[in-house]
Amino acid sequence: MSYQNPRVAEVADALTKRFNELDDKSEVLKANELRALYAEIPTLPAEQRGSFGKEINQLKGELERLVAAHQEKAEALPPIDVTAPLDINVPADKRPQLLPAATGSKHPLMAELETVLDIFYRMGFMAVESREIDDDYHMFGTLNFPEGHPARDDYDTFMTKQTDKNGKPFIAPAHTSTMQNRVLQTYKSNLEKGEPIAVVIPGRVFRNEDLDARHEHTFYQLEGVYVNKGVHAGMLIATLKTFLQEYYGKDLEVKTQPFYFPFTEPSFEFALSCPFCDKQGCSVCSYSGWIELLGCGLIHPNVLRMAGIDPEIYTGFAWGGGIERLVMMKHGIEDIRHFESGKLDFLRQFA
Ligand code: DAH
Repeated sequence: MSYQNPRVAEVADALTKRFNELDDKSEVLKANELRALYAEIPTLPAEQRGSFGKEINQLKGELERLVAAHQEKAEALPPIDVTAPLDINVPADKRPQLLPAATGSKHPLMAELETVLDIFYRMGFMAVESREIDDDYHMFGTLNFPEGHPARDDYDTFMTKQTDKNGKPFIAPAHTSTMQNRVLQTYKSNLEKGEPIAVVIPGRVFRNEDLDARHEHTFYQLEGVYVNKGVHAGMLIATLKTFLQEYYGKDLEVKTQPFYFPFTEPSFEFALSCPFCDKQGCSVCSYSGWIELLGCGLIHPNVLRMAGIDPEIYTGFAWGGGIERLVMMKHGIEDIRHFESGKLDFLRQFA
């Protein structure tokens, strides 16, 4: 379609080109250029407004038709049976079109996780991966949550109908602390050799949350566990501060406030000065200058005891917090839901 008005013609040209490149074709209908054209109408002399407005409406109609036609075409394609074995005799150009590896890239969260782990390796921590299904004993029992304790309700856990040998449902872990007992048991021989237990545990966790820009049902946490003789809260704070300064590449202030977790005593909520605005106040830190980042504390004697470590001899610290938050602050990502959305427009920014 051609347009008399050169402004409309110019925008029509730009938007039809953009349409071809967009993954989500309907985005073209929200283009700023289109909005700008409408905003120009009242600035024109009265006699030009009618024809200008009409041409913009025509352009909008044309774009809507393009979007609808694309949608119909996409729906008409036969669905790919992803469970079917790949027939290697099919000529290459007839095989299902997958994204070539050359245009794929690491997911931004996994790329950042590598950076995070690399910093902790350099600080003497080793990494152990968490698991995606666990039991009541590791989710609560080993962490000093008494049976029926209300703190269990703070974790909106997903559970299975199937039960374990104690008649308890299996649980999609709601935090990486489920791994504490396993890590303490596995590495307690370090202590006898005079070496600390120093482990970080990245893992995927699940909560039955109401979703919004800050809450996802599936997200990642990084847990840290450190045990040795004479460990105190100052070491915990110094470790976290050192890590955060290294990760954000700048000096930061940190602060703690008392909190409650059954598995640490004392327990803290740990906050850092907003790395995005340096405490000036911005939308990332809700204009407070501070970001509450994670929970931490000194490992409760019962948790050590349950792993066979004598709390009279050894003490330790632990922390656990969301990885998405860290990454969102680093890159100014405004909505946590982008990470699991699979939107190529989002992912390509980090490729
Ligand atoms: N597991 C806690 C949560 O997800 C966070 C946490 C707090 C982990 C204190 C710890 C800790 O290891 O010591 O809410």
